[in-house]
Amino acid sequence: MKTLFSGIQPSGIPTLGNYIGALKQFADIQDDYNCFFCIVDQHAITVPQDRLKLREQTRKLAAIYLASGLNPDKVTLFIQSEVPAHVQAGWMLTTISSVGELERMTQFKDKAQKQNDGIPAGLLTYPPLMAADIVLYNTDIVPVGDDQKQHIELTRNLVDRFNSRYNDVLVKPDVHMPKVGGRVMSLQDPTKKMSKSDDNQKNFISLLDEPRLAAKKIKSAVTDSDGIIKYDKENKPGISNLLTIYSSLTDTPIEALEAQYEGQGYGAFKGDLAEVVEKFLIDFQEKFNTFYESDRLDAILDEGRDKAQRASFKTLKKMEKAMGLGRKTK
Ligand code: TYM
Repeated sequence: MKTLFSGIQPSGIPTLGNYIGALKQFADIQDDYNCFFCIVDQHAITVPQDRLKLREQTRKLAAIYLASGLNPDKVTLFIQSEVPAHVQAGWMLTTISSVGELERMTQFKDKAQKQNDGIPAGLLTYPPLMAADIVLYNTDIVPVGDDQKQHIELTRNLVDRFNSRYNDVLVKPDVHMPKVGGRVMSLQDPTKKMSKSDDNQKNFISLLDEPRLAAKKIKSAVTDSDGIIKYDKENKPGISNLLTIYSSLTDTPIEALEAQYEGQGYGAFKGDLAEVVEKFLIDFQEKFNTFYESDRLDAILDEGRDKAQRASFKTLKKMEKAMGLGRKTK
């Protein structure tokens, strides 16, 4: 069976964008792969975090993964900082990365711009740590949203570089994107990505938003003035984004929605979508609460940590041997 790896940062509560672009596809394909899902808290600290909030968000993210439909008896769910091989392999891959290629990463450029007290060095070396997350498990596929494509491309380059410089040790992963919803946009500014760390609450729907409030956010989402429900990302980004959300949450093709709402105004469409989102969140949060309040959550994370430690240690040792680190083992 092939191996799948993906991660989410506990840098806020995941949004509907994270659900549609990542979590939903994890649940949809989990049975076809040996799956590792990681709460990447060491990535989250590449920008300043409040320590108590980070802890809380880490645990909430674990429950959110499970509420999205992952089967805890089958997948390995764990916290990055509890598996030391990640930073160890991350360092090795940092040494074969060039400053130039890291500076070219869009996410680095975006996040660096927002820092007022100097740019943390970890923001620059974030991608080799992400590459380490992936290669440690001999990963074949990495399901992610659109914004992570560039990091996976870099990971593939680092794998080629490591294998050709040292030894053929690392597996080269493929990216896996959702058919619909690889890039869910902000509700008030649909030319910009929906993000869990956005300062304006109206721009995103958090998976733990009060469902009625989320419905209101949909109703007040920015659209356009021509009143036609048609997918056209360039000219009608707002309505196209809402169509994407509707399509993903109801598993209905966008064309079918266009046909269903032909001749109807935005009011009716937004009203129906608001109801879909509200119902989705009520159901999601019920599952979330069950996991969040149960002791089972810790047992799942303990077991995940142990499984991830065993699997990653093997690759780490191969990498160290290939690079000549430590003493020769017999
Ligand atoms: P993060 O935490 O920003 O996002 C988690 C996942 O959600 C996807 N995503 C979106 N999809 C659609 N529309 C959006 N608006 C949207 N916003 C986010 C992301 O593409 C991602 O799949 N660097 C990663 C975390 C990471 C990782 C890894 C991922 C660390 N190591 C190894 C895969 C493999 C990140 O910051 O994701």
